[in-house]
Amino acid sequence: MIGQVNEPFGFRPLRQAISDYVKTTRGLNCTEDQILIVNGTQQAMNLTAHVLLQQGDEIWLDEPGYDGALGAFTANGAKIRPVVSDKYGMDIAYGIRHWPNAKMIFTAPSHQFPLGGTLSLSRRIALLDWAAENNVWIFEDDYNSEFRYAAQPIQALQGLDQRERVIYAGTFSKMMFPEFRLGFLVIPKSLIEPFKLAKYYADTRTSYLEQVTLAAFISDGHYARHVRRVRKACYERQSALIEAIQLYLPDSFQIEPSDSGIHIVCWLAEHLTESDIVAKCREIGLGVQPLSRYCQTDSIKQAILLGFAAHPPSELVEGIRKLAQIIP
Ligand SMILES: Cc1ncc(COP(=O)(O)O)c(C=O)c1O
Repeated sequence: MIGQVNEPFGFRPLRQAISDYVKTTRGLNCTEDQILIVNGTQQAMNLTAHVLLQQGDEIWLDEPGYDGALGAFTANGAKIRPVVSDKYGMDIAYGIRHWPNAKMIFTAPSHQFPLGGTLSLSRRIALLDWAAENNVWIFEDDYNSEFRYAAQPIQALQGLDQRERVIYAGTFSKMMFPEFRLGFLVIPKSLIEPFKLAKYYADTRTSYLEQVTLAAFISDGHYARHVRRVRKACYERQSALIEAIQLYLPDSFQIEPSDSGIHIVCWLAEHLTESDIVAKCREIGLGVQPLSRYCQTDSIKQAILLGFAAHPPSELVEGIRKLAQIIP
């Protein structure tokens, strides 16, 4: 193992295991030399901004979008340019029309955060073509790709990209747990050296103890089994939550059907307000976030996000039943 532990890019057997895994499960096109182990997506975004963006460069971000991305890219001097999205994910034509000078695009094509749309194949191709023609980088946040319950996942942008414009980020925060600060970047070959320097000067390397453990967990087949178990449990939890909302709160919450993710978006009926519902949920111990937390403008309808991954079905049903008793 000595000799494998001093690389800023991370523990080579883990990089090999991840490379094999994402090639099979996400259709990525890479070798282990392109895998950089990071402390989660948050560090992935910071390093990417540091290497590829200059002060004042523009970056597209979904509206509503991921507050972690907003914070990381803004802190690195980038100007955020909001792009609307629908059930087919980020509206690429809107972005090109409104923000043609962007240098980077942040997108979560598997599961747009927070509304949950999946970027359609035609939008993926349009985005890749436009990025290549305009020398724009794409940061692909694939945080939720393993939480897909019915339809087959669409191949990651990185795997469709022939022109090395995509920086792909994966994380173990969701499948393992958020405090397990391990994630990875898949970097175009031309960017390996600048990313190596950025990682080295950020924190020299990610802690090796977790890397060695995770490498064994994946290589011995435990991770793939774990993913299957977690996916099944999350599907049951999502179904229980949706059924409970339809039973107890049919006139208060309208839910978008979704076959992926670990939260659902509940659009509120006209007579309800986000702040009131959030307060009521918290009163009875239901974990909830207001949609406005993720909005840069206030033109979007009121909604709340309910996470379901951390609770067994019976708790979710009971929580919704209690909430129905205190909602007007
Ligand atoms: C949109 C999105 N991307 C990525 C992540 C994962 O971030 P990290 O790997 O830093 O825990 C999250 C976590 O909440 C998220 O919501």
